[in-house]
Amino acid sequence: MNNSNHIQWQQPLIKKEDRERLHGHRGVVIWLTGLSGSGKSTIAIALEKALHEAGISTFLLDGDNIRHGLNSDLGFSRKDRTENIRRIGEVAKLFMESGCVVLASFISPYEADRMKVRSLFNSGEFIEVYVKCSLAQCEKRDPKGLYKKARSGEILTFTGISDPYEEPKNPEIIIDTEALPVQEAVRILNEFLTEHGYFT
Ligand code: PPS
Repeated sequence: MNNSNHIQWQQPLIKKEDRERLHGHRGVVIWLTGLSGSGKSTIAIALEKALHEAGISTFLLDGDNIRHGLNSDLGFSRKDRTENIRRIGEVAKLFMESGCVVLASFISPYEADRMKVRSLFNSGEFIEVYVKCSLAQCEKRDPKGLYKKARSGEILTFTGISDPYEEPKNPEIIIDTEALPVQEAVRILNEFLTEHGYFT
């Protein structure tokens, strides 16, 4: 039986703005999308360290890690990837509302799924970062040996090989990891947040 008609929204007394005041900065989601091996997690980890050291409250959500727990029941079919991203979008929103700077690092290959996540947020609360890297370069890096397994058929529905990746149509930021070192990517993202007043 579906009881959703009998569920009411409870209005807390403490709002996002109150929590942000305690943190001393705004809450925001930085959503990094890109192929496996493009550098999403490397950038997210380095950015989190830099922000943390600057006294910013952060939380990192990463594809591999979330799939160990919350989303351990999901695989890599179209339906499961959509559900994966839907749940993560909701989790990212909760952390954002807690006043944290959320770093979300997921392939998130479908534009429609990313747009759905974006629609959960008000303007300025969601920043889409396209971590751009050619398939050839990702395959050359192959840090986890997954492309090799995908080519041999050991892994089916692998993004970029036997499953699609839809490039973001309108990301706030594009980071080309074939041209930029990690620390430069971190600098660009840090500068964006500072210039757009997230830390004031
Ligand atoms: S998705 O598409 O957004 O739901 O994927 P995500 O939750 O980010 O998980 C991607 C990581 O899972 C590993 N992996 C695969 N990726 C893509 N396709 C297939 N079939 C697959 N199987 C396992 C891989 O380590 C991905 O991590 P990254 O960091 O992107 O390499």
